[in-house]
Amino acid sequence: MQTNPLAFTSPAASAKNPASGVFHVPFVRPMMPPYELLHEEFEKIVCSGQLTKGPNVQKFEQAIAQRLGVRHAVAVSSCTVGLMLVYKSLGIAAGSCRDNRGRADCRVAGMEQRSRLNGALSVDLTQPMGEVIMPSYTFLAGPAAVVWNNLRPVFIEVDPATTNVLPQTVAAAITPHTVAISACHNFGNPCDVPALEAIAAEHGLPLIIDAAHGFGASSHGKPVGSGGTAQIFSLSPTKLLVAGEGGIVATNCDCLAHFVRMGREYGNDGSYDALFSGVNGRMPELSAALGLASLTILDSVVVRRDQIATLYRQELSQVPGIGFVETSPGSQSSHKDFSITIDPAQFGISRDSLRREMADRGIETRAYYDPPCHLQKAFAHFYDPMRPLPVTELLSARSLSLPMGAHVDEAVVDDICKTIAHVQQTL
Ligand SMILES: Cc1ncc(COP(=O)(O)O)c(C=O)c1O
Repeated sequence: MQTNPLAFTSPAASAKNPASGVFHVPFVRPMMPPYELLHEEFEKIVCSGQLTKGPNVQKFEQAIAQRLGVRHAVAVSSCTVGLMLVYKSLGIAAGSCRDNRGRADCRVAGMEQRSRLNGALSVDLTQPMGEVIMPSYTFLAGPAAVVWNNLRPVFIEVDPATTNVLPQTVAAAITPHTVAISACHNFGNPCDVPALEAIAAEHGLPLIIDAAHGFGASSHGKPVGSGGTAQIFSLSPTKLLVAGEGGIVATNCDCLAHFVRMGREYGNDGSYDALFSGVNGRMPELSAALGLASLTILDSVVVRRDQIATLYRQELSQVPGIGFVETSPGSQSSHKDFSITIDPAQFGISRDSLRREMADRGIETRAYYDPPCHLQKAFAHFYDPMRPLPVTELLSARSLSLPMGAHVDEAVVDDICKTIAHVQQTL
């Protein structure tokens, strides 16, 4: 592999290491499009003064919808806001969606019937009622969006091999209080959307996929994004497709898209008589222009990430006590993160000790997701000890995400892997 064979810009790499100064290998550097692709549009936006609600957002939404093969791609200010608005819209939009025979039987309507039944989406914020089944081994934005909507996360276990929820675990957690199912393409590794869709359809529940890591991932040759009720993507700098900050709500449901669009405008349909309490969730024009340029290099970014992941795996597979995330047959991970597990008994030291040793040698890593959501202050009271999560807790204690991004080339991978092997052999 060449050092930097692809057309993207690598901003200068430096990050502060609290222990010993500067990380010579920061955890992440965004893979940016070359500035030549940006400056003309940036100049137009700045000179026109149209900083929001302009043509770039529209163009970006169309381009993403086409790439993902969905009817709607709604651009929002972040994935978190997208998730919040989707749950909100599921309550608001309920019943307004009709199939081609005029029946209100889409999955959005399914949620409303359940919500009414359980009294969910009431305004009593102290007593969330409707339950959303979701992994605890995920980023905290997932349960945050649920709790913001006065719903209750029900944390379930993940598969230790793929780190994604298993359809049978989801099915076993469904109760009369369940109002939605949420899964994640964790670390960019596609979850089993068709199997989850079948369960959701059987129970009349919406399926919300946290696709924050999803750009660049595919299943059986198709980009992830089109299955389920909605898939919500992130465009923050750690992702393969970047817009500064931003998110995309991808859905085939017309009424859900309609209410997410209204929700990103404070819940105002233009009449200045708000239908519901929304947010300012708009994507700025400059972000959309960056997203459009980033889209032109996405395929090469995917190739590059895959090369790096393969190299990491080759070099680390000889080191005892290291485990890798498995991808299901037919799936291609985006490798938003390259995460390994450290078995302390075989490796010799714990994940945390290895992290410290690497930091001392100038290599920045992350411990995703430690603590897991069910042990965080904001969500611990939703955790039911009768439903223990030993796999999640083990993954949280052992998982180590290695540097990924524009600054990571063959030599950097070699340096990181040699450091890990050296630490393993000498401590
Ligand atoms: C799994 C997951 N969901 C949601 C988010 C939130 O994304 P954003 O920062 O765009 O709100 C992230 C952020 O990285 C994430 O990793």
